[in-house]
Amino acid sequence: MAGTIVLAVDPLNPDIKSIRRAAEVIKEGGLVAFPTETVYGLGANALDAEAVRKIFVAKGRPLDNPIIVHIASVDQLDILTDRPEAATLRLAERFWPGPLTIVLRKSSRVPEVVTAGGDTVAIRMPDHRVAASLIRESGVPVAAPSANVSERPSGTTGVHVLEDLGGKIDLVLDAGMVRIGVESTVLDLSVEPPAILRPGAVGLEDLEAVLGKIDMGSRGEGLARSPGVRHRHYSPRASLILVEASQDAVVLELARQRMKSGDKVAILTQIPSSYESRTQANIVAMPAGLDDYARQMFAVLREMDAKAVDVIIVEGVEERGIGRAIMDRLKRASSSGK
Ligand code: TXA
Ligand code: MG
Repeated sequence: MAGTIVLAVDPLNPDIKSIRRAAEVIKEGGLVAFPTETVYGLGANALDAEAVRKIFVAKGRPLDNPIIVHIASVDQLDILTDRPEAATLRLAERFWPGPLTIVLRKSSRVPEVVTAGGDTVAIRMPDHRVAASLIRESGVPVAAPSANVSERPSGTTGVHVLEDLGGKIDLVLDAGMVRIGVESTVLDLSVEPPAILRPGAVGLEDLEAVLGKIDMGSRGEGLARSPGVRHRHYSPRASLILVEASQDAVVLELARQRMKSGDKVAILTQIPSSYESRTQANIVAMPAGLDDYARQMFAVLREMDAKAVDVIIVEGVEERGIGRAIMDRLKRASSSGK
């Protein structure tokens, strides 16, 4: 590929000419990275197997990891699934557009490469004007994983996308930083009771209010059903060590040991004052509010790589609301055995 075209667009009022240019690329079977409210996605025409295959190549994504299909209106459900059930429509009504992905039985029109050969398809309607108008102008559902090289932290700005995928994709619609910063909640509706396969901004309680009992899906079973969560994920190049909150002594000792062996160490904490003048490690202040924490998290992990940090010690956050999604990503980033 000659080079990646970057079009800057206003997130609230995107220029229709730029959107149409990107939509042409999708229609012709190319790859377009675009912002959503969660993270940037790397999109292709979901009904074109050849185009979707290019996503796997650009990201270095294992072929056994299925891809979420993005739609701009509830009508497009009919292309992807044979008969949407009442529960799906209730969820769509309540949470779409928004950070909820629903896994349903797929129709025969969805190519196997999208679903990694499985009989279910994951669908979401993003809450972002750029994403919505791109899907609408393309006239097809858009398959899109997060726009990062496989296993790296998801991209939350156009700059991150270019860092990972520049030269490997056709076009980036750059609308600056996203609003939420962690990927959507993935809910499997193809099983009974429904199961959360990945926590996100839409919480368990929100979903239970609509559906009744839901499985947290943290057991082995859930893992097998969502192939993506088996793979290592969200990892910076540095190794990441997650420590429970309020364990300053543990963090300081870990930092001391790693620095002694010559590693460059950073400590990510919501209470930087508790470390000041107690360590030589680089102290990184994380936002006290969980929404801001989520929004910044992947950018901070990337920044640590840019600073050539070897070890990132992260204090755990409270596991409520979006804190569950934050902890999920931090645990996955740390479970690498690097
Ligand atoms: O917020 C998001 O969901 C972002 C934006 C771009 O929409 N997308 C995203 O895609 O995070 P990706 O590919 O990075 O993560 C999708 C997750 C993976 O864990 C994948 O295994 C799971 O959803 N998934 C996709 N299709 C599935 C299916 N049919 N059954 C179970 N899990 C599925
Ligand atoms: Mg991803």
